[in-house]
Amino acid sequence: MKIINIVGARPNFMKMAPIIDAMNQHPEQIEHLLVHTGQHYDEKMSKAFFNDLGMPKPDIDLEVGSGSHAEQTAKIMVLFEKICLREKPDLVIVVGDVNSTMACTITAKKLGIKVAHVEAGLRSRDMEMPEEINRLCTDVLCDYLFITDHFADENLRAEGVAAEKIIFVGNVMIDTLLKHKAMATQLNLLSKLGLRKKGYATLTMHRPSNVDDKETLEEILGALKTISKDLPIIFPIHPRTRKMIEQFGLSHYLNMDTVVSGIWITEPMGYLDFLHLNMNAKLVLTDSGGLQEETTVLGVPCITMRHNTERPITCEVGTNVIVGNSGQKIIAAAQAALSGNGIERRIPDKWDGHSAIRIVDWLIKHESK
Ligand code: UD1
Repeated sequence: MKIINIVGARPNFMKMAPIIDAMNQHPEQIEHLLVHTGQHYDEKMSKAFFNDLGMPKPDIDLEVGSGSHAEQTAKIMVLFEKICLREKPDLVIVVGDVNSTMACTITAKKLGIKVAHVEAGLRSRDMEMPEEINRLCTDVLCDYLFITDHFADENLRAEGVAAEKIIFVGNVMIDTLLKHKAMATQLNLLSKLGLRKKGYATLTMHRPSNVDDKETLEEILGALKTISKDLPIIFPIHPRTRKMIEQFGLSHYLNMDTVVSGIWITEPMGYLDFLHLNMNAKLVLTDSGGLQEETTVLGVPCITMRHNTERPITCEVGTNVIVGNSGQKIIAAAQAALSGNGIERRIPDKWDGHSAIRIVDWLIKHESK
């Protein structure tokens, strides 16, 4: 069976790494190629992750880069079509919900190639999120939908998806976290930065809904600044957020010194460094998707600065609270988390480090020829 695996943006890499590892255990049954669309291209957003995760270099890099959604999606489709025609895969595997995920799904399906979506069925029901559009388009087209939890199953069934297309395998991103946790523990980044365990918070923020509007962004930064008076915040800043903060003249909220205090910004971090910081943090503040899941497994309180989540399991059994982007609510949630006496949490079923093996075993059983 010949498979093309697709990655494009940062959150794809940690999902694809364990799938490639699992495929490498079956060279006689699976021939696979890795295609990087180049949606993320900065060294720190892309190559650093390949190194940290021990991923093979992509076999093919489409180098599409940035652009409007239509431009980026169209460029990927035009270039990926040529790859499909040349390589004639039996199956394409896409992960997550970025533009690359949707673009490659549409392209392959129109050529009659089967597509499997890993992390299918997540729904925020927020059509202003580009990722929600990507998820819906991808899932409606895919032949196999590998899911992380019961919410995804319920969402897909409510949309009329046949039960035999839905396969509950757990969470491949957690495979990567569990594999690298011991390695991340060994790092001595905390002492390098002059921090103590549980003596700081980490922050990620890049969603258009939080960073593209000056008033919203300023309100969030104001709240974060208040929180950072009690607990310094480490902020590895996404390129688009840096661009917006500079454009709106809001840099004075940030600390760019070498000493960690206030909202301390740094370049985007590699996987291991950031895992090390998150596992030792008192609190995580984010608008990311994956971090809601990682904090649930690490047992670290997570405040999600969004109005909704496509990952409700992290609130149902995990450490996550959804607070929106009002400054007052962000501050109140941080105070509640800081005064709490630890949190009860359960790790969702099958988030056990073996999800990628389940996917590959399933494919070998059902698709091998
Ligand atoms: C993308 C995903 C988002 C994911 C995020 C993780 C979509 C629709 N969005 O958002 O779901 O959470 O990645 O990081 O696919 N840029 C750089 N260097 C890079 C990449 C981007 O400078 O390597 C800057 C450019 O100014 C670019 C902007 O960031 O225009 C946005 O990049 P894009 O890939 O469109 O979306 P992200 O915001 O990164």
